Amino acid sequence: MYSAFRSALFALGPETAHNVASLTARFAQQWTPFLLDSMYQYAHPSLHQEILGKTFANPVGLAAGFDKNARLIPFFRKAGCGFVEVGSVSARKSKGNKKPRAFRLPGDEALINRMGLNNVGAAAVQRRLAMQAGQIAFPVGVNLAKTHDPSIEGEAAIADFCESFRLLAPYADYVALNVSCPNTAEGKTFEDPNSLDALLRAIMRERAEMKRRVPVLVKFSPPHTDRFILDSLFDELLLVSLGHGVNGFIATNTASDREGLRTSSAVIEKIGRGGLSGPPLKARATGLVRYLYRKTKGKVPIIGVGGISSAEDAYERIKAGASLIQVYTGLVYKGPGLIRSIKEGLVRLMKEEGHSSISKVVGIKSEA
Ligand SMILES: Cc1cc2nc3c(=O)[nH]c(=O)nc-3n(C[C@H](O)[C@H](O)[C@H](O)COP(=O)(O)O)c2cc1C
Repeated sequence: MYSAFRSALFALGPETAHNVASLTARFAQQWTPFLLDSMYQYAHPSLHQEILGKTFANPVGLAAGFDKNARLIPFFRKAGCGFVEVGSVSARKSKGNKKPRAFRLPGDEALINRMGLNNVGAAAVQRRLAMQAGQIAFPVGVNLAKTHDPSIEGEAAIADFCESFRLLAPYADYVALNVSCPNTAEGKTFEDPNSLDALLRAIMRERAEMKRRVPVLVKFSPPHTDRFILDSLFDELLLVSLGHGVNGFIATNTASDREGLRTSSAVIEKIGRGGLSGPPLKARATGLVRYLYRKTKGKVPIIGVGGISSAEDAYERIKAGASLIQVYTGLVYKGPGLIRSIKEGLVRLMKEEGHSSISKVVGIKSEA
C-alpha cells in the first residue's frame, strides 16, 4: 500500500512530501485509529524491556526530527512504535534555514537535510504535551536543541537550553540533548569537552531542583569513518557525560561528511551542506554503539539510530549494544509498515537463534 503512496509523495519535493505525510498521519490518528490498529499492531512479550525506569513494549522508536512539534504521537503509537522522541525543540520558535533544505538520494536510499531546527518553540510544545498528559500510554522522549540564532552563545546558549529543559522535562520520559546537530546557525555544536561540561553542569543543576529525576541522554554525531578508530576527543566527551551522571546515549545524529555514497559527486555538490542520513551511516553508527557499549560495560542504555531500514539492521544494532533503536530515513523510503516488519523480524531472528528476550541480545556482539 505504501508503494503507491510513496510514488505520489516522491513526485513532490521532500519537505512538501513530509508535510503531506504528516497531515495524512494526523487525519488517520484522528479519524481512523482502528484501521491503524488493524494494519500495524503487533506485540510480542519477548520485545518488552524495562529501561530508564520505563516499560518499553518494543524497542522500535521514532527518531527526532520527524515529529518536531509533538503532533504525531498518537499516530506513531498506533503504527506500533515502542516510543517516540519529539523535537528537536528549542526555547524560541524558529523557522529554520531557507528552503530548499531537504534532499533525497534515492540511489542510496538516503537523505540530506539542513532544516536548521525549525520548530514552534518550547512553550507551544509544552502546551501540546500537557494537553496529552495521561493519554499517552508509552514513553515519549523530548529532544532539546539550542535556539537557531547565532547571537545566542556562551552563557546565553546554556541558559537557552536550560529554559527548554525547565519547560519540557516535566512532560518527558527522557530528555535527549541534541549537542551534535550539524545544521546550527553558528556552525558549532556542543561536542567539545568544555562546552559539553558547562551544558551538562547547568542541566543537571536544573534537574536536581525538580521533583522528578528525568533521565538525561546525550546524542552524538557519527564518527567519520566506517572503522571506528579510537578517538581521544570522543573519550573525553564520554568521560564528561558519565561524570555528570548522564543516563544514556543516542548514537547517532546525521553526518556532515559524504562518506560511502553511490550518488554522483556532481549531485552531491549541487545539494551543498547538510546532515546525511540513511544506510550510508549504518556501519559507523553501529561501530559507535559497539564502542559505547564496551566503554560503559553495558551499564548505560544506548539508543541506536542511523541507517536502520530492516529487522536485520535493527538486530545487528541491538547485538552491538543498543537497548532501543530508532528510525527516520527508513520510514521515508519504506513507510510506517517498517515498524511492524522490524518487530516481526526481531521475534523471528531471536527464535532462530534461541533467544527468549530482546534484553538478552543487547550487546552480545559488542566485541565484533
Ligand atoms: C529531515 C531530518 C530532520 C532531522 N531533525 C533532527 C532534529 O531536529 N534533532 C535531532 O536530534 N535529530 C534530527 N535528525 C536526525 C535523526 O534523528 C537521526 O539521528 C538520523 O537521521 C539518522 O537516522 P536515520 O538514518 O534512520 O534517518 C533529523 C533527520 C532528518 C532526516
